[in-house]
Parts: sequence; structure tokens; C-alpha cells
Amino acid sequence: MQNYKIAVVAGDGIGPEVIGEARKVLCRAGEKFGFSFEWQEFPYGAKHYLATGETIPEEGFAALEKCDAMLLGAIGDPAVKPGILEHGILLALRFRYDQYVNLRPALSFPRVPTPVPLGEKRIDSVVVRENTEDLYMGIGGIAQNGNLGMAIDVKRGAYSLTGELNLSTDPAYPLAGQVAINTRPSVERITRYACRLAEKRGEKKVTVVSKSNAVSALYGFFEDVAKEVMAKEYPDLTYAMVNVDALCYHLVRDPAAYGVLLCPNLFGDIISDLQAGLAGGLGTAAGGNIGDGLSMFEPVHGSAPDIAGTGKANPVAAILSGGLLLQHLGEFEAASALDKAVTEFLVNASADALPFEFGGKATFAQVGDAVAKNI
Ligand code: NAD
Ligand code: IPM
Ligand code: MN
Repeated sequence: MQNYKIAVVAGDGIGPEVIGEARKVLCRAGEKFGFSFEWQEFPYGAKHYLATGETIPEEGFAALEKCDAMLLGAIGDPAVKPGILEHGILLALRFRYDQYVNLRPALSFPRVPTPVPLGEKRIDSVVVRENTEDLYMGIGGIAQNGNLGMAIDVKRGAYSLTGELNLSTDPAYPLAGQVAINTRPSVERITRYACRLAEKRGEKKVTVVSKSNAVSALYGFFEDVAKEVMAKEYPDLTYAMVNVDALCYHLVRDPAAYGVLLCPNLFGDIISDLQAGLAGGLGTAAGGNIGDGLSMFEPVHGSAPDIAGTGKANPVAAILSGGLLLQHLGEFEAASALDKAVTEFLVNASADALPFEFGGKATFAQVGDAVAKNI
């Protein structure tokens, strides 16, 4: 029997709550379809950081590397300055393992209330977010005494960037700066991924989300490279471009208007939350950080400290992220059974048995139990 070794970083806030339910459903899928899991739990997150001062130590990375895939809940806690854990754990994992795709499907479900009426339509779109570059290069600083010196030492998958950027300014005008970079190989590979996905979904178009009218070098380049790859390698697909501001407008008026949205990193982050909100809540939105090495599956949402410990966390996004993990492992039958179990639950549950986020009264554990039973 196939046994998968899965690394688990449940993390902070509602992370452990929703990941427990994802594991419950995955175990049930394994029982049903003839495979099993060996879970390797890692303690990284706010508590561990506050107790030890470490985010992920080298031996942690070494142990993670031995796993077939990874499940992550959420990282971030009000007791720790924003950025420390997010950079030290979440982004560190994405960059270290060159998880260049952030795959974020947006799905609406029957009976899940949406803020914009969908009529007969259904949201079934997917953000393909470039996951290693853009404004996420980690190159930035704040001017001290009229000087902003940014020592650059960035490693990403196949390349590193080194150097120094020095800006002088009037000390009376303190400033902060952050550098965004998109490289050709990274835009090429994420474009290829988006095109293969569009083909798999039976769609004819890939829409690049841009802002080249204002941020011309960075996003004009992204557009040009994506367009070139599509023309050369995917001539049957139509290239489309929408500026991110207009996209927000269009999405709010017609949330089901798009299929594959190919996004630079920052726009992908923002648009995936917008899509999730339009589909009925962050608790609907699954995600996968996919690369050629260790891949990591996590809901789009964060640690939601405002509801942690109340039982109100919606575990559906984490469960559906488990479905993406099953697809990644090649367990396609189990993956579609999991998706079906979620839909059946959302169709058949009594109003009170829905998660709080969808207007019900069910705790995360009750939702997880009900979905697991459907497999
Ligand atoms: P958030 O996604 O945690 O929460 C936004 C809102 O959505 C909150 O009102 C929350 O209660 C609600 N929400 C989120 N997930 C939900 C769920 N499963 N069920 C019901 N309601 C849900 O975003 P935030 O408030 O900006 O961030 C909180 C912390 O999480 C911060 O530290 C942030 O950096 C971190 N964060 C981590 C990740 C990650 O680990 N992948 C992602 C986003 C934010
Ligand atoms: C996400 C989160 C992260 C991001 C943060 C926590 C660094 O918002 O996974 O969407 O910006 O990618
Ligand atoms: Mn986000």
C-alpha cells in the first residue's frame, strides 16, 4: 500500500483548527482509496518563535525535504511584528523550494451565499500566481539619515541576485523603498503552467493581469514575455490582458467572467482574496504552492486571529487544499471524491449544519466530520 509522508506545519491562529479537519478528510480518502499517510508535524509558527527565536532552522528544512509534500495551515500572530513569521516561514518555504506556481482556484458552491448575486452562473476561475518574484523579492529598506542602502543578496531557484542599491535623499524627507523584479525564465514558466492549465480546463484564453500603463517596465515586461510564450508555444490559445484596477471592477460586476488569470505575485495575492470573497468567503479558497521539488498546500486565508479559538473557522478551504495535494500526489480518484464530498455536504447540509461563514452554526470539527462521512 502506498504510504505518503506529509510534512505538516499547522501554524498559528485557526491554522491548527482547519488543518486537523483537512487531515481527517485526507485519512478518510486514504482508507477508501487504498493509501495511507505518515504525518510529520513541525512546530513552526508564533509560539515556537516566541519560545526559541527561530523561524525554521536548517535541520527543519532538511527534515521537510524528505517528505512527499507539505500541508500548511496559516502563519502570523498579533504578538509578533508583521513580516517576521510570514517571511521567515511562509515565504522562506516558497522561495527555498522554488514553488513557482501559486495555484488558487475560486469556486462558488450551491447554497453558499455570495455578496454579488450570480444568477444561473457559477464562479469557476483560477488565479495562477507567480510565486517567487515581483514585489516579493525582499529587497527594501528605510532611509536612515538621508541614505537608503539596500544590500541585495537574493537566491531564487536557478539564480541569485547580488549587488547594492544606494539612494541619497534629504534627511528631512525620510523614505522607504522596495524593489520589484520579474525575470524572463520565471515569467516563461508560469505562463506555460497557466497555458497547460487552460488547455486542461478546455478553455481558449489566458488573461494576464497587469498594470503596464503605470508600472511600465515591470509589468510591460511581464506582458511581453507571456505574450511571446503564448504565440510561440500555445498558438491555439488567445492571449488577453486586463489591468488589475479594471479587473477588480469587472469581477465585482460579473464574478464569473474569467477563467485562467495569470498574475504577477502581488496582484495574484490580492485578486485571490477578492475572488474568494465573491465566491462566498475565504473559507472556500484552496491553494497550492507548486514547484519541481517539495510542494506545499495551504488555504488562501491567513490565521484569522479574530475567530481563532471560537470554533467558527471554516475548514472547507483547508480541506479543498488537501484535494489539491491529492492531485499533486497523483491520487486523482481520491481528489475528485474529496471535491465531491465537499459539494455534497454543501448541497445537503441543513442551514444550521453549514459553517458560520456560510450563515450556519457548525464548528470546524462538525464540518470536517460531515465532509469525511461523504467520502
Ligand atoms: P485572514 O485571511 O487571516 O483573515 C481575513 C478575514 O477573513 C478575517 O475576518 C477572518 O476571520 C476571515 N477568515 C479567514 N479565514 C477564514 C476561515 N477559514 N473561516 C472563516 N473566516 C475566515 O487575513 P488577515 O486578517 O489579513 O491576516 C491575519 C494573519 O494571517 C496575519 O498575521 C497575516 O500575515 C497572516 N496571513 C497568513 C497567510 C498564510 O499563512 N498563508 C495568509 C494570509 C494572511
Ligand atoms: C498569502 C498571504 C501571504 C502572501 C503573506 C502572509 C506573506 O497573504 O498567502 O496570500 O502575501 O503571499
Ligand atoms: Mn494573501
